[in-house]
Amino acid sequence: TQDNKALFIIFGGTGDLAKRKLYPSLFRLFRKRAINKHFAVIGTARREWTNEHFREVVTDSIQELNPTPKELDSFTSHFYYQAHNVTNTQEYVTLEKLASELDDTYQLDGNRVFYLAMAPSFFGTIAQHIKSEHILSENGFNRLIIEKPFGTDYQTAKELNDSISAAFTEDQIFRIDHYLGKEMVQNISAIRFGNNIFESLWNHYYIDNVQITLAESLGVEERGGYYDKSGALKDMVQNHILQIVALLAMEPPTIFSDHAIRTEKISALESIRIYNEKEVKENFVRGQYSKGHLGSNQFPGYHEEKDVDPTSSTETFVAGKLMIDTFRWAGVPFYIRTGKRLTEKGTRINIVFKTTPINVFRSADQTEDIPENILTIYIQPTEGFSLTLNGKEIGSGFAMDPVKLNYRHSSETLENSPEAYEKLLLDCLKGDATNFTHWDEVAASWKIVDVIKHVWDKDNSNIPTYPARTMGPKEAFDLLENDGRSWVWEP
Ligand code: BG6
Repeated sequence: TQDNKALFIIFGGTGDLAKRKLYPSLFRLFRKRAINKHFAVIGTARREWTNEHFREVVTDSIQELNPTPKELDSFTSHFYYQAHNVTNTQEYVTLEKLASELDDTYQLDGNRVFYLAMAPSFFGTIAQHIKSEHILSENGFNRLIIEKPFGTDYQTAKELNDSISAAFTEDQIFRIDHYLGKEMVQNISAIRFGNNIFESLWNHYYIDNVQITLAESLGVEERGGYYDKSGALKDMVQNHILQIVALLAMEPPTIFSDHAIRTEKISALESIRIYNEKEVKENFVRGQYSKGHLGSNQFPGYHEEKDVDPTSSTETFVAGKLMIDTFRWAGVPFYIRTGKRLTEKGTRINIVFKTTPINVFRSADQTEDIPENILTIYIQPTEGFSLTLNGKEIGSGFAMDPVKLNYRHSSETLENSPEAYEKLLLDCLKGDATNFTHWDEVAASWKIVDVIKHVWDKDNSNIPTYPARTMGPKEAFDLLENDGRSWVWEP
């Protein structure tokens, strides 16, 4: 592998994301020599830390990866700390001085990655100072990685985008959606465009409906404060779910490049029908978990969670039906659902195919409808695919017997496969934006979500509830039943 050259300036270097995801991912890249001699990291945050202390924190954060003492020394020696108040212009001058020193020391060719791993309210300020205080290097690349949430609605997202666009061009901005770093989310393109048996059927002539479930068993944990202001729609649908929809629904790109793929994703997202008030009520349901149990384990209700308003009407569950107004998808519902404290953690896509035009076996033993063929993509925790087909039941007579062709990556493969953040950091170093969201995707997604949120906010009384560790409120099941369908959810 190539020894990628870059200086990482991490805003929020003392934070949780940096410790949990960024430092371990950088270490994995270091081990694989995707970064090696020519990289340096400046961690910044308000606290006064020494380089030594920073290196100890980095050391702690990678313990699980069992570094040897030699690896540790050489890896952490590339880390520098600079206390930094993001609103103080003068401090950017100090930062630039350190940055250019490190550029010389490690021969980084002026390549810079600015990583915003902190409270979104500062994103704009930082980007503007980076520009005004000349922290952008003149040789080499300048890239900005920015974490979610990207705004809280279309308007705030646009304001944020305008402010970062004053310093960075669209092709320098890498907006993270960590789902796009997941192996099986990336596999959607492989399945579609690498298999003619699927892509040729990938349309309204053959597909009856598509189902996307992002179920979580955990509650809001330590993030009640953030979550209570956000809710499931903004936390999961605006970003992760709509990104998955875009990958499933887009037209085939002419070539597998970031530009071509993102162009198609943008069109797909812009083709999702924007509902009016009545349609929102018919097609979207929300829910909030109440206390519940699984076996003998008891779980508190959302209102009892830490940092959550006990009268909160924030949704912890969303289910909805999206329609995509293109020739390809005319009339095919994309059912989506996500929630906290559901039965289990499971992210899955089900492509439910139409049944055969007539049941020729009705004269034999198969008097009921022939079951649908279903292609399932298992995103997590297990990763793989399955395809259900109909065979003949063994014996005399002629009834259908559904069989499931099942494939899962082995646990060994999974253990050795790179983590989402590791892949995304490497993509950024290579300047490949395929797995990052373009502004036009973000904008289209917010427009869809804003309308739903707006209708909900008008009436926050009587939000459906569901007992913790169940699959959501009854309304979510009715949504499909009213269409004569049901959620596919098998192990
Ligand atoms: C985050 C949400 O974006 O995704 C969290 O803010 C959620 O609320 C998380 O738990 C789920 O990610 P993963 O990778 O665990 O499925």
